Amino acid sequence: MLPIISKKELLKHLQKLSDNSNLGLVPTMGALHEGHASLIKKAVLDSEYVIVTIFVNPTQFDNPEDLEKYPNTLNKDLELIHSISPDIMVFAPTIQEIYDDTVVSNTYDFHGLDKVMEGEFRDNHFNGVGTIVETLLKLTNPKRAYFGEKDFQQLRIIQKLTKIQEIPVEIVPCPIVREDHGLAMSSRNERLDSNIRHKAGLIYSTLKTAKQKFGTKSVPNIKEWVQDIFLSENDLELEYFDITDVETLTPAKRKQKNIKYRAFIAVYAGGVRLIDNIALN
Ligand code: PAF
Repeated sequence: MLPIISKKELLKHLQKLSDNSNLGLVPTMGALHEGHASLIKKAVLDSEYVIVTIFVNPTQFDNPEDLEKYPNTLNKDLELIHSISPDIMVFAPTIQEIYDDTVVSNTYDFHGLDKVMEGEFRDNHFNGVGTIVETLLKLTNPKRAYFGEKDFQQLRIIQKLTKIQEIPVEIVPCPIVREDHGLAMSSRNERLDSNIRHKAGLIYSTLKTAKQKFGTKSVPNIKEWVQDIFLSENDLELEYFDITDVETLTPAKRKQKNIKYRAFIAVYAGGVRLIDNIALN
């Protein structure tokens, strides 16, 4: 299976499809794992044609070291995609092909969704995500696009992006896939040594207990409890834990009736930044 590299070639492929209104898009940055596989399998079930994009988007990285360390496993990725279905198209463009000579992001007004949590700790990250996702949606014009709930804030921002930019596409959220001990699947997990990878199971077990506590304890009380848990862990450093309204992502001070909440967490595990989240009610 050879990936499509240029936009011109991509458009040629898309024009050849008999019914390209039934196209599913799965945008990725490669280093594919079972979480990505679940998105691709869902797209194959829903759509007649599927395109997976593999592009490590430089404008969404605020940390050059993180970008540099981002794993490149193209051959393995292509094998995984091929094992799901040999008919899937793969678009793996170069930076030049996407950005020409100007590697900068657009600036969006995401109505505050980008100002909390990841947005607070990763400068300009969501403008970079918005830029590449808008570019890919406009290039491929799919009926559906698939995003994992592990990056729940990203998912909400992409839903907002398609509204403000009036892009006619159904955004399909896909559930988090976890390793046996609960750690959410992520390309970054490969950078964890086995001891720390095992310890990082604490992230999900903390979220599950926070969910139980949400029935009876106050929001500040749960936040304090989570902080204490990580203070006593040498290899796991808590960056943030927040409970927010699912729609607006506004941090909650107290629980209110008829509002859906989610808990979000970011932790450095042996220097690798991991995120996770859980629905609370
Ligand atoms: O979630 C990701 O892998 C990336 O943020 C995405 C959506 C492919 C954009 O580069």
